[in-house]
Amino acid sequence: GVSTSAALARRPSHTGAELRSAVPLPPPFQVPLPVPAVLKPVGTAGGADRYEITQREAAAEILPGVRTPLWTYEGTFPGPTIESRRGRPVIVTHRNELPVPTVVHLHGGRTRADSDGYPTDLVLPDGWVDGHAHGGHGMHDPRAVVTRRTRDYTFPLDQRPTMLWYHDHRMDFTAPAIWRGLAGLQIVRDDAEEALGLPAGRRELPLMIADRAFADDGSLVYPALDPALRRRPGVREPYLAGVLGDVILVNGAPWPVHEVDAARYRLRILNGSNARHYELEAVTDDGRPLALVQVGADQGLLAAPVTHRRLPMAPAERYDVVVDFSSVPVGGRVRLVNRLGSGRTRDVMAFRVARRVADDSRVPRVLSDDLPVWRRSDAVRVREFSFRAGRMHGGHGWLIGGLPFDPARSDVTVRLDDVEVWRLVADVHHPVHLHLVGFRVLSRGGRPPLPHDAGLKDTISLRPGESAEIITRFDGYRGRYLFHCHNAEHEDMGMMANLEVI
Ligand code: C2O
Ligand code: CU
Repeated sequence: GVSTSAALARRPSHTGAELRSAVPLPPPFQVPLPVPAVLKPVGTAGGADRYEITQREAAAEILPGVRTPLWTYEGTFPGPTIESRRGRPVIVTHRNELPVPTVVHLHGGRTRADSDGYPTDLVLPDGWVDGHAHGGHGMHDPRAVVTRRTRDYTFPLDQRPTMLWYHDHRMDFTAPAIWRGLAGLQIVRDDAEEALGLPAGRRELPLMIADRAFADDGSLVYPALDPALRRRPGVREPYLAGVLGDVILVNGAPWPVHEVDAARYRLRILNGSNARHYELEAVTDDGRPLALVQVGADQGLLAAPVTHRRLPMAPAERYDVVVDFSSVPVGGRVRLVNRLGSGRTRDVMAFRVARRVADDSRVPRVLSDDLPVWRRSDAVRVREFSFRAGRMHGGHGWLIGGLPFDPARSDVTVRLDDVEVWRLVADVHHPVHLHLVGFRVLSRGGRPPLPHDAGLKDTISLRPGESAEIITRFDGYRGRYLFHCHNAEHEDMGMMANLEVI
């Protein structure tokens, strides 16, 4: 239920101050866009693909001439991309060689609870003293399944094709772990989608957008990892609101540039930032906007394309977008800009048109016919949840229904296959994410959903003061799941709740 008594003396602002980098930053559109390597399976036994990922420390040259220590999957940020087929299970053995416990969650995956990366299901590094696992508030979770060194995660991937992402999900420490590099992409495909004729091969680009800030030694600045910084006045507040950096990375490169054909490209965009919101626009050098033709949402293809001039993106949201560069002269440039940024955070990346080519790709008028349609009358229940700032453990935190996350508490119990309507009410910007299921947006502020709410979502961007309704069927698996704010700092500071499917 909604907390009615959350009297807040001092409500933190929703956008924290941006952390400033202390190293020289490169000019925009110089560094080539990297595309994360596709991970090779180590085996294909029993109709499943097996992978191994080592989580380890590594250094990368993110800014030219600057060495940045990272926490990585397989030594890179982003981690390697896993390419998978609908309905073909993937088993990933994660080996934790980092100095801290970790948890892996496949965001958007329809995964059994024991592989879903519950925040207390830790993988301890070798030599980690047990007691240290209880580093966070309320870590005493009798149901936690803790392993040492390795853990096998099984992903059935019996779901609509889309781009998922895997990232760390350790209780109270998710935000700094992602910030330091623990994020990668996983793409699910099927024959029906491939038959559509959307741009493919070189003309399909995954784009993980994330902001970061760099200290003078090249390391990533993160307030809570640096006690000296955290004690400085004015620094704890931005941490509470969410950590923002002054460098925009795409696939781990600062303001990169990518050479393209004068043709259609399919851009599979993830906002992998901890807290930064974007409003993306593609503009030519003479200021002409190119249409962003959305073909898919978080959970796969739309029924029909939706054309945007600007596309708002909250943390963890994915948009599958086709951009046609054929009207741009060879040598011309198209910048992807963030209308919400200012100064250097206004630029994201650029595309330089290199050659004219024949293009036989297309964007069909009908993209899919398998989107679930749930009517309000299908719902057996309407629940309401507030997402608000509040007091927790004697300090500021973020609460759902007036409570901070507690793994030992039961918050919401739903019956398998029930359809429910959830009404979500926000004080400031909160991107709300449900594990296990995709949902449709029914309404925003009592009005019909916005154009970018189309399709099947797993994360909804609640705007300040807004309430929205979503509808879903809790199908798939029974077990203990989660819903939470995907501003990663809000999530670490309490804004998460248990979702039990029985
Ligand atoms: Cu992207 Cu609970 O996660
Ligand atoms: Cu939030």
